[in-house]
Amino acid sequence: MLFSTGAAFFTSLVALSTSATAAPAPGPKDKSAKPPAFFLAGDSTTAVQAENGGGWGDGFLNTTLKSGATGTNYGHNGATTVSFRDGGDWATVLAAAKNARSSYEPYVTIQFGHNDQKPEKNISMAKLTANLVKFVNEVRAVPATAILVTSLSRRRFSTSTGKINENLADVTAATKEAATKTGAKIIDLNAASTKYLNAIGPENAATYNLNPTDFTHLNSQGSVVFGNMVAVLIDEALPELKQHVVPVTKIATALGKGEYYFA
Ligand SMILES: *[C@@H]1O[C@H](CO)[C@@H](O)[C@H](O)[C@H]1NC(C)=O
Ligand SMILES: *[C@@H]1O[C@H](CO)[C@@H](O)[C@H](O)[C@H]1NC(C)=O
Repeated sequence: MLFSTGAAFFTSLVALSTSATAAPAPGPKDKSAKPPAFFLAGDSTTAVQAENGGGWGDGFLNTTLKSGATGTNYGHNGATTVSFRDGGDWATVLAAAKNARSSYEPYVTIQFGHNDQKPEKNISMAKLTANLVKFVNEVRAVPATAILVTSLSRRRFSTSTGKINENLADVTAATKEAATKTGAKIIDLNAASTKYLNAIGPENAATYNLNPTDFTHLNSQGSVVFGNMVAVLIDEALPELKQHVVPVTKIATALGKGEYYFA
């Protein structure tokens, strides 16, 4: 009974996230033959836990990949869609995906927005969409499968409403637009993380902070929780990956019910 409530919690998000996808991506054929390799492109909210950075990437790679699946976290602290390309990270991701092809089916997750939205970066939302569309097209040329990811919510709550400050709406919309334009797979991590954080409340949410005053980056426990959220969303959007992307049952159950999890 409780479990079905949990399933409903996530199903509503998934309906939301997949409705933006107009047409299925023309992905590589016969995905069952090789295990997947995940190459994670993004900013510090994807990146390895370190000073001034820490996202969901390591928790996803360390706890959910099974049956020969593998992956590498290329999240770069402070990155925008512009700096990630100009600094050479993007070329590294594409090369890694290409090199993996003999033994793996490559997937590239793409999550940007936290820095692209900063006024001093001077990146319009139209430009963000265009940069993401270009990323998707270049992933397809590898060939590999692109998965767009909307930005992980920050953990600041409004003192008036008691709910999460939804200050990533612009970059979330720009990412959905890139999915619509390309037909790429997309997971709405922004919606799922916002919903979960609202369900558990500000005190619990802050326990995932990298340090007490950092409401953006995740500590290791947060990486594991939100990494498992990404796994749940990937399995919903790309069911062919279910054998290889296996969320930890107790975490998936807690997420599904909107119940606080910390370990
Ligand atoms: C901001 O970007 C626009 C469009 O690329 C450009 O025309 C303008 O010069 C830039 N402004 C600054 C201050 O860099
Ligand atoms: C994931 O595993 C690596 C390698 O053991 C480790 O350095 C890192 O801290 C782990 N990350 C998390 C979030 O547990």
